[in-house]
Amino acid sequence: MLAQASPWHTHALQRTAAGLAEPLAVTARLEWTTRPGQGPGAEILDPDLRGKRLLEIGCGPGHNAAHLATRQGAHVTGVDLVGLQVRRARCHYGRLNNLTFVAGHALRYLRASEEQFDAIYSVFGAVGLVAPELLLPAIARNLAPGRVLAFSVPHPQRGGRVLSDDDRPRRDFVSLPDRTRLPIARWEFTTARWERHLSRAGLRLTSAQEFHDSRMGHWPTTLLIRARRL
Ligand SMILES: C[S@@+](CC[C@H](N)C(=O)[O-])C[C@H]1O[C@@H](n2cnc3c(N)ncnc32)[C@H](O)[C@@H]1O
Repeated sequence: MLAQASPWHTHALQRTAAGLAEPLAVTARLEWTTRPGQGPGAEILDPDLRGKRLLEIGCGPGHNAAHLATRQGAHVTGVDLVGLQVRRARCHYGRLNNLTFVAGHALRYLRASEEQFDAIYSVFGAVGLVAPELLLPAIARNLAPGRVLAFSVPHPQRGGRVLSDDDRPRRDFVSLPDRTRLPIARWEFTTARWERHLSRAGLRLTSAQEFHDSRMGHWPTTLLIRARRL
């Protein structure tokens, strides 16, 4: 299993270097892309999230999980590989109800859990950072039939990248606040390739949306995929 803990630990360490995280106000929207206000919000997970059990894999500082627990009335668990991120999320939002943050690898968490979630989601989180042939079946196993998996990933053609024509991960980088970059492996699939992997895991692709960010040139920057458990 490719854990990639160290670049993400350094990422969290630099983000917390300025001091302990403060309690934060909950955001008004769930953000799927790099540009706040762009694209759909929480409704793509379920039109009525009240009382629904949700899992975020790769929750980072927990902004989206806090939105779903507070503004949408869902019961949310956020999992992140890095304990420091979980500590940061708890400092920001630990006072809120219906919100739990757990440190651990998404795959290990899913495999150990017997819970059937009403939706599972990832915003530039674990989906794309863990081998899809392992992660997608584990997600499907923990998703109730008919329920949604939604995830946003960096678009495979961002910045003019050439599309890969195999299932192997590519070299990417975590950009750090001090402007250095650390290498990571990322599975960068086209929609058609995601669809094949989803289907093998028992999930049916229901939509794929591309988003642009004018600050990043004319190439699409974000791919947002939605699928349903069969
Ligand atoms: C780019 S950040 C995104 C954080 C958050 N979703 C957001 O939008 O602010 C990626 C996060 O995924 C976490 N991560 C990476 N690999 C993971 C894994 N295998 N399991 C759980 N979390 C993981 C990292 O620690 C990091 O916090």
